[in-house]
Amino acid sequence: MHPMLNIAVRAARAAGNLIARNIGQQGQFSVEEKKKDDLVTDIDRECERTVISVLQRSYRDHAFLGEESGLTGNTESEFQWVIDPIDGTTNFVQGIGHCAVSIALKRAGKTEVAVVFDPLMNEMFTAARGEGASLNGRRIRVASRTALDGALICTAFPVRYRERMGAYLELFSNLIDNCADIRRTGCASLDLCYVACGRFDGYLEQGLKAWDFAAGELIVREAGGLVTDYTGTPGYVKSGNILCGNPNVVRALLNVCNPQDLPAILR
Ligand code: IPD
Ligand code: CA
Ligand code: CA
Repeated sequence: MHPMLNIAVRAARAAGNLIARNIGQQGQFSVEEKKKDDLVTDIDRECERTVISVLQRSYRDHAFLGEESGLTGNTESEFQWVIDPIDGTTNFVQGIGHCAVSIALKRAGKTEVAVVFDPLMNEMFTAARGEGASLNGRRIRVASRTALDGALICTAFPVRYRERMGAYLELFSNLIDNCADIRRTGCASLDLCYVACGRFDGYLEQGLKAWDFAAGELIVREAGGLVTDYTGTPGYVKSGNILCGNPNVVRALLNVCNPQDLPAILR
């Protein structure tokens, strides 16, 4: 295994143990609202400290971009670790066992290694650039479906961007008319990984942050998937409007999104 991936796996396991020990223990951890409907617990913060401290033991002068602590470490470094300590905090707070630790390493802006760990299922999704993607050490690939007919698609409601809801629901209505069914799981990093291993045929969401998708994006690409924004370009890196699947499913999803009719907020 890539040595940096090895360390990332160690960090993800350490934080994952904390999640597994605390989930379902409502009242034993603090819950705060960062913004309306955007929660953080002291376990999120402890997981982030744990991840950074494990990484820092090996990589003293790298930079760290964590959801809860922002940019720290050597901010001049070309190496930057992007960390979501608990992706799926709302699930965690509610005692719903679907959340993950997400860690990606970028070098000069390019993602080199990625880990998404689901401690409740004990599933470790990993990828290294040019070396493929794995689940618990076994190679994974995106599904081979050629159209939306029969497809299981994952998406999410833009609850943090309520002004987008009307435009999104129009898109949602097109989508449900064309595929078999839809899921909303509450954990973007695992949504991406589920596309990578073929559990979902496709996934689309908007307004994600770098820590939500940095790791999952590489895992999808290394599993043979395509990741674009809603107009078929890499604009998602800035907008966080992400769409993915195998190349056929991406083409079909882009048709449903009908780029010409999309309001600017969905591009
Ligand atoms: C959230 C989850 C959720 C997605 C949101 C994210 P958080 O991350 O990934 O599935 O729909 O957009 O913000 O806040 O639980 O780390
Ligand atoms: Ca997240
Ligand atoms: Ca989070």
